[in-house]
Amino acid sequence: MRAAVLISGSGTNLQAFIDRTQAGELDLDLCLVLSNKPDAAGLERARNAGIEVECVEHRDYPAREDFDAALVATLDRYHPDLVILAGFMRILTPVFIDHFAGAILNIHPSLLPKYPGLDTHQRALDAGDKWHGSTVHFVTEELDGGPPVIQGRVPVKAGDTATTLAARVLTVEHRIYPEAAALYAAGRLEYRDGHAWLDDQILDKPLQYT
Ligand code: GRF
Repeated sequence: MRAAVLISGSGTNLQAFIDRTQAGELDLDLCLVLSNKPDAAGLERARNAGIEVECVEHRDYPAREDFDAALVATLDRYHPDLVILAGFMRILTPVFIDHFAGAILNIHPSLLPKYPGLDTHQRALDAGDKWHGSTVHFVTEELDGGPPVIQGRVPVKAGDTATTLAARVLTVEHRIYPEAAALYAAGRLEYRDGHAWLDDQILDKPLQYT
């Protein structure tokens, strides 16, 4: 199965995918890493791993739909079966989402449905949450609202800042995201009729990783 990974930044989740595939633990052909930022550090990770890279700069496209059409045109040249959003910091429109319907995964740094959107770590701290974490979900038109697949929880510790909490969340992301992709690659996980399905059963609640 061919997978394209979309990034905007450091790409530690991308690195987790690279490491797991190189170790033979994840049966995915990482056919492309695409960034909307030419200086994204994750592009270097991809080059070091010998993966094709592309950059489509959102600033070149005043309208979101035009940017999304350019993303689709670039991705289509690589024929991905799965699109993995890994710290891709652009909101996608139906132009993109409908094209890859049911074949887009995202990771969001909160225990969805809590804290869609930005600043999730600070919001968890401000709310006094005891637990925080991250969620892998299928992408639908609702921002951070598609059916969740797997969640990883981490404790919020005394003295945590958004930075220390983000680092703890990242370590769990690096476990759960390749795991979700492995289920998809094995044909066990799919998106159908607005639901995530695992082994032909609707996933009522996400798998939990602790
Ligand atoms: C992760 O926390 C992810 O949940 C969010 O963006 C961050 C990406 O980190 N969507 P990295 O670029 O993979 O290091």
